Amino acid sequence: MKILITGGAGFIGSALIRHLRARQLAEVVNVDALTYAGNPESLPGLDADPGYRFEKVDIRDREALERVFREHRPDAVMHLAAESHVDRSILGPAVFVDTNVVGTQNLLEVAREYAASLDDRPDGPGTSPGATGQADPLSPGPAGATPRERFRFHHISTDEVFGDLPPEAAAFTEATPYAPSSPYAASKAASDHLVRAWHRTYGLPVVITNCSNNYGPYQFPEKLIPLMILNALAGKPLPVYGDGGQIRDWLHVEDHAEALWTVLQHGEIGRTYNIGGDAERTNLEVVEAICRTLAELRPAGPAPDDADAADRARAFASEAVSHDDADRANPYRALIQSVTDRPGHDRRYAIDSSRIQHELGWRPAHSFEQGLRETVQWYLDHPEWVARVQSGAYREWMEVNYARRSKATGSR
Ligand code: NAD
Ligand code: TYD
Repeated sequence: MKILITGGAGFIGSALIRHLRARQLAEVVNVDALTYAGNPESLPGLDADPGYRFEKVDIRDREALERVFREHRPDAVMHLAAESHVDRSILGPAVFVDTNVVGTQNLLEVAREYAASLDDRPDGPGTSPGATGQADPLSPGPAGATPRERFRFHHISTDEVFGDLPPEAAAFTEATPYAPSSPYAASKAASDHLVRAWHRTYGLPVVITNCSNNYGPYQFPEKLIPLMILNALAGKPLPVYGDGGQIRDWLHVEDHAEALWTVLQHGEIGRTYNIGGDAERTNLEVVEAICRTLAELRPAGPAPDDADAADRARAFASEAVSHDDADRANPYRALIQSVTDRPGHDRRYAIDSSRIQHELGWRPAHSFEQGLRETVQWYLDHPEWVARVQSGAYREWMEVNYARRSKATGSR
């Protein structure tokens, strides 16, 4: 089977491609425009893999997409390309509408025309050039299904489309109404609606997944977990928005990749599956867990040349509030700082993933604590990857996003 994956040079797309290629589950065509978030270095060794092809194409470019479908003749599409960072969507929403909404509509149109052109005879020739007509046992659909019946469009989305969940409310199910808060979430909600409309109106065989916050290796350090790990190592402040009491449900990216493959193979056409890690944590709990893990794995503490950090650590150790001994001795924890909150900040997300667990048998394999530890270790072990993504555009972003956030209540 050959899968066209959009956004495969990003955090989740690259994890999905590494997952599929390491196990030789499917051939992959990676369609990615390589925005600031796309990084071919997150796909090590794949240049030499005959089952992998890269196409530097923007999903808003219809002609280029048509050429890619014509040349590669995929059996399925997994659509991950998107602008994905909430804070960027607040400062510049237009590109979110362009890529996430207009880009998705463009991709849907090209995929629809392509699907209609596929052979609809039982045991007709396969979609890929040179295919024998024998269905790949790993491809979706029952034995004897035609190439057109086997084709799938899998749209990858987020739990943020459901909006702000009250503290005591039950977790989001697939029936929870959409109520997006940020421009990012609204653009993803719009794209989900388009995908459902293309199924209902044109019969495009779609599956949709809505996943909670991911973490793991190769995540661009503008998102909470890698940002905090790298700032802590450098002795820079750990900027917690507001009171840090916002709750997210964390899932290891490799568990997400496995869930996506499961849904592509076995998901019911037209159906949505929520994916979550059953790991609700406040942001402050996450940051404190990172500090504890760093104190274990890198006991030497933050970069020694940061005099400010040393001062903050001393001030923290002498604070009147009660810390246990381990916290008091933790030099990273002293870097935590409350800063101005994100506008429209959702207080809580939580996913009920019982549908995918009961119907398709997927469940997360990583506990949050173990997954976080491995993630911290990965960032410690990959300084070259980190140094390269932290150059240029990244520095500008740090300046734009954090310079305007004043310290809210000082160091913790
Ligand atoms: P990311 O920002 O790390 O990667 C996005 C990728 O898309 C990049 O490689 C980028 O170059 C590419 N891209 C952006 N605009 C493009 C365009 N116009 N044409 C082609 N390629 C383009 O994002 P991610 O965290 O890997 O998220 C992937 C998908 O999963 C997104 O659709 C996101 O909404 C969804 N999602 C993310 C999370 C999360 O926690 N990161 C959780 C749930 C769902
Ligand atoms: P983020 O990683 O941007 O993901 P999302 O907004 O998609 O959930 O942020 C996760 C949480 O961490 C969110 O509640 C905002 C918060 N946050 C901070 O407190 N400080 C930061 O510097 C960042 C980037 C995020």
